[in-house]
Amino acid sequence: MNYIMHTPEEGLRVERKTDRGLTIEQLEWAGIQQGMRVLDLGCAAGTTCRIMADLVGESGRIIGVDVSARRLSEAKAHVSHRPWIEYRQGAAEKLPAANAEFDLCWSRFLFEYLEEPAIALAEMIRVTKPGATVCVSDIDGNCIWHYPRENELDEEIQEALHTFGRSFNPRAGLSLYTLFVDAGMRGVVADLRPYHLIAGKIDPDRAAEWKMKLDGVVIALQARGWSESRASRLSAALMSHLHNPRTLTYSALFTVRGRVGEL
Ligand SMILES: C[S@@+](CC[C@H](N)C(=O)[O-])C[C@H]1O[C@@H](n2cnc3c(N)ncnc32)[C@H](O)[C@@H]1O
Repeated sequence: MNYIMHTPEEGLRVERKTDRGLTIEQLEWAGIQQGMRVLDLGCAAGTTCRIMADLVGESGRIIGVDVSARRLSEAKAHVSHRPWIEYRQGAAEKLPAANAEFDLCWSRFLFEYLEEPAIALAEMIRVTKPGATVCVSDIDGNCIWHYPRENELDEEIQEALHTFGRSFNPRAGLSLYTLFVDAGMRGVVADLRPYHLIAGKIDPDRAAEWKMKLDGVVIALQARGWSESRASRLSAALMSHLHNPRTLTYSALFTVRGRVGEL
């Protein structure tokens, strides 16, 4: 377990970038309903848990699991905490949950950081009731699809990916469908939609979100041996690409759901 984005600002970053409308659409596609007991794996500061709590209502229960004690204390301190949300600290690879505990298991933007995604999926399956749904959503092309290509920027992105090794998979979304099928899930379905689409000069709010994300990447690269100046140059080159009125950056969001086999 080697999460690359453990920065003090991470909870705020996730809160800022969460699109409530998109999240509700995805959760409804996953099959969330009133009264369900739902797992949110990699819940960070609880942004999605609070949306889930509104959808399941007081008769339901949301369990947010995250490896970071700091994120969980931010989640518990949130002003709009709903008492039917519970937080547990633990790892995706060894979930702090009982067998067949949940009516729905959900995880978004976590699998791209997992070295052993199949183990995490097996754990999600273990804690889901027979016949119930597991749903995972993640990005294909996180930070890598830019046009026009600039050789130096491309090379530095490749070097950064090499440095992160198995701690970051920018194409994680693409692998989810096969991961679900290989895990023996039933009725596996994939959904695809555009995620990042920045055509022309980025707007100020999204630029601030990208800056926060890249500040986290700079810290993570430094922790893995890069000099501050080299890591900051990469971040500045990417920001300059995003501010350029004639460039385009994109990624796609895969969401995959499947049912756990009946006993
Ligand atoms: C990008 S954030 C998740 C965002 C949120 N799920 C959403 O939809 O916006 C990833 C979270 O996963 C947590 N995390 C990373 N590795 C983990 C692991 N192996 N087990 C559990 N949580 C992990 C991090 O602490 C972080 O809070």
